[in-house]
Amino acid sequence: MKDKIVQAREGFLGKRSICVLTGAGISAESGIPTFRGKDGLWKNYRAEELATPYAFEKNPRLVWEWYSWRREIISRASPNEGHYAIAKMENVFPDFLLITQNVDGLHAAAGSKKMVELHGNIWRVKCTICYYKGEDKNVPVKYPPLCPNCEGLLRPDVVWFGEPLSPSVLSTAFEAVSRCEVMLVVGTSAVVQPAASLAWKAISSGAFTIEVNIEPTELSDRVDVNLRGRAGEILPLLIE
Ligand code: OAD
Repeated sequence: MKDKIVQAREGFLGKRSICVLTGAGISAESGIPTFRGKDGLWKNYRAEELATPYAFEKNPRLVWEWYSWRREIISRASPNEGHYAIAKMENVFPDFLLITQNVDGLHAAAGSKKMVELHGNIWRVKCTICYYKGEDKNVPVKYPPLCPNCEGLLRPDVVWFGEPLSPSVLSTAFEAVSRCEVMLVVGTSAVVQPAASLAWKAISSGAFTIEVNIEPTELSDRVDVNLRGRAGEILPLLIE
């Protein structure tokens, strides 16, 4: 492992353009369940069964109960050493972008600013009827949350399966990945598109690629260095 850390650190030397792609694994050490891990089930539902427009249409209360449960966990959580290490990186590299799939807001809490949230944010809501968007920090969620403009039902302002990502967020991410010299992929199973394709794009563009994950993924054999272990332990070693 020591050799691999050295190899990864050498990959950063003299580089100015860096992208970091994170997934639920970076927040696991903060106590937030990942989606596809053993602890990822809520009342026996998988994320794919609840994080859909169809599920919300069919049973909005159930979907809100799930988000209320996740909000409760997140409200008690703090950023971990992995989040802080990434926040420090943006001050070291002149051209830096953090691309996160997480909706928990822990990167921002750790001080990250040069960041896009691909899948939205759990503390934001939008109206299912009008164009209202706003913040809602209630824990537990007061059901039904209603729009202050039109009294329509509010939904979480997150991207669900089957929904498109914000075109501007996605193009910012793809542009940064296209020009980056180093891509660090942390704590994602890399199975959800289009997020996973950002990692593949970096590989095919010839960037120096590093993966940090406790388990192998489809990316593991294709990256330049794969670091098997916990993000909160490995990331601080990379920026030491
Ligand atoms: P997953 O739950 O699919 O994957 C989490 C990854 O983190 C796995 O590969 C784990 O091995 C790894 N992991 C767990 N603990 C770790 C640790 N301490 N250090 C490093 N790695 C660790 O989560 P995502 O890949 O983020 O989307 O899932 C992608 C999207 O699918 C999510 O944004 C969410 C989900 O359903 C939506 O809700 C739209």
